[in-house]
Amino acid sequence: MTQPLVHIIGAGPGDPELITVKGQRLIEEADLILYTDSLVNPELFTHVKPEAVVKKSAGMHLEEIVALMVDAVKDGKRVARVHTGDPSVFGAILEQMKKLTEAGVEAKIIPGVSSAFAAAASAGIELTVPELTQTVILTRAEGRTPMPEKEKLADLAAHQCSIALFLSATLIKKVVREFIEAGWNENDAAVVVYKASWPDEKVVRATLGTLHEAMRQHKITKQAMVIVSKAADESIIEKGTFESKLYDKTFTHGYRKGAAVHE
Ligand SMILES: C[S@@+](CC[C@H](N)C(=O)[O-])C[C@H]1O[C@@H](n2cnc3c(N)ncnc32)[C@H](O)[C@@H]1O
Repeated sequence: MTQPLVHIIGAGPGDPELITVKGQRLIEEADLILYTDSLVNPELFTHVKPEAVVKKSAGMHLEEIVALMVDAVKDGKRVARVHTGDPSVFGAILEQMKKLTEAGVEAKIIPGVSSAFAAAASAGIELTVPELTQTVILTRAEGRTPMPEKEKLADLAAHQCSIALFLSATLIKKVVREFIEAGWNENDAAVVVYKASWPDEKVVRATLGTLHEAMRQHKITKQAMVIVSKAADESIIEKGTFESKLYDKTFTHGYRKGAAVHE
């Protein structure tokens, strides 16, 4: 007999067209759809089976959520557990998977478009610009959840790479302080995207020096992705100094034969 299975599905950032084809299919085949919160767009559930139960899990505790899923799969039902963005980033899925495993239920993750990438898309920025920054850190400001000792924001920010901050909208003053402490300049670029990919999305460009006031003016206190990055500076396109060698006609690689090989 096959082991009962729950699919943990990334809903993407909000636009119902930004879920994977597989995630959408599994939702449409499910008998129980349990979704996390207001950043999961209910439009994703327009074509579910008529008898499917669609339920929001906000307000339920872990044991209730897991019991609901376990009872359903053990009853032969298909279960879709739908999380915002990509479930593996700040998704709190580990505790659910642990309890499902203890109950003899397998959990499979279907990835999704994380809000970090949806926000970069909305802001029209490349997070990794050659010779400027080649690293992206996905992190958060320290709030009630303590940061591991070696992951304090000021230490991470010292790398001066692209940094995407989840769950940090209410902690912006502290965030800015830590970036400045880490050697960033008040003129360095930041962009905040409120509800990336939703109809009421807001994209607010700022610098570290103006970020707090810009967010206050736009009344952004939640559901926001903050990206601090030298690559978010709009003038880098105009300067034209940072260009990938990939499409450079003098640079050859595996698919365009010549002297140098690009990886
Ligand atoms: C619990 S975390 C979940 C992150 C999610 N797993 C992801 O990959 O995007 C919730 C935080 O993600 C960010 N977030 C999620 N969806 C967003 C969206 N559409 N626009 C902006 N930020 C979003 C916000 O920082 C929010 O506070």
